[in-house]
Amino acid sequence: MGKKISEFDKCISRIDTGSLKYDKYKGRDVIPMWVADMDFRSPEPVRDALRKRINHGIFGYSSVPGELIGVIVDKLKRDYGWIVSPRSIVPLPSVVVGLNLACRCTGSDGDEAIVFTPVYPPFLEAPPHSRRTLVMVPLACRNNFYTIDAQAFENAITKKTKTLLLCNPHNPVGRMFGKKELKAVAGVCLKNNITICSDEIHCELVLAGKKHIPIAAMSKEIEDITITLISAGKTFNLPGLNCGFAIIPNEKLRRAFKTAKVGIVEPFVNLFGLTASLAAYRDCEPWKKDLLIYLKKNKDILHKAVNTQMKPLSMGDVEATYLAWIDARKLNVADPVKFFEEAGVGLGDGSEFGLPGFVRLTFGCPRKVLLEALDRMRKAVNEHLVESV
Ligand SMILES: Cc1ncc(COP(=O)(O)O)c(C=O)c1O
Repeated sequence: MGKKISEFDKCISRIDTGSLKYDKYKGRDVIPMWVADMDFRSPEPVRDALRKRINHGIFGYSSVPGELIGVIVDKLKRDYGWIVSPRSIVPLPSVVVGLNLACRCTGSDGDEAIVFTPVYPPFLEAPPHSRRTLVMVPLACRNNFYTIDAQAFENAITKKTKTLLLCNPHNPVGRMFGKKELKAVAGVCLKNNITICSDEIHCELVLAGKKHIPIAAMSKEIEDITITLISAGKTFNLPGLNCGFAIIPNEKLRRAFKTAKVGIVEPFVNLFGLTASLAAYRDCEPWKKDLLIYLKKNKDILHKAVNTQMKPLSMGDVEATYLAWIDARKLNVADPVKFFEEAGVGLGDGSEFGLPGFVRLTFGCPRKVLLEALDRMRKAVNEHLVESV
């Protein structure tokens, strides 16, 4: 008997499904690996729950199921030993909305929000959307390994600094920040009355043998100054269903956050997002386990191919996420994204993350697709090197 094909090996066409990722290159032979969603179907229990809800047929205004909040509370306790009360959890239509609300409810017009760069573009956009000034503090980097430079962070602080937007695990560099780094960051925030908004949307996509540490779970003091953002969207591949959660144990901060929502993102969250999130968090741990094994293998293949067969490209380890951050500066091309698009692979543009010369590759796809993309990249790089001699 042949080997059973893995769910993740199935190549399912996403053409004409209203997909942002695929519509960008419609009609062109370009493998889209730019946006952060995966080419895998969501787990069966999620699809079952959605089917059941659709079959019911009445789609009135939603209320947040108590069971969903209970499942999140239990999960935070089980996974991180973090005990939060149900009222700390604020449902949202997306995590990016949460980043923007966090800017809006901390400080006032003209105050400063710090981000560690390179970073997911909405981190760079959220402060100006809320009339806050964006202050970029580069992550330190050695041999493609990025760390938070707590001293540079402290040096960037002024009287106007009111907010830190932290991304952990970090998109795009794939780091899971450790206890020491997080403690140093939190210490600086506590000393300077800075509110932390920690986007932990990738916290379950752990590929390294490590445990994610929610910064707020490190102490009551830190919890008190922190807004944590989570979502089932990345891990269970539901980002188009638009649902996320803020966890804000401090009542005053939570009230300010909720006030910033009024009339803009109130009062309802999408019914299907809530339905899918409940099924994902409650019923899909075995699927997640299999997904992580698959992603890790993809990551290993990619890491080896980039670092050994595509020199002068290079990348570091991806501790978490399904995103690779590739240094293409030594390739000496004016526009690396255009270069790889012409080779048939659509990548994310480092300059949008605050670091030109880099590209981001989403490896949440069937292995066959990844191998084809790597083949195209390898050929393009090697041809370019021959031409440049
Ligand atoms: C760090 C981070 N935050 C938020 C998002 C988007 O989340 P949402 O679709 O819930 O706004 C992404 C998507 O790539 C992300 O990487």
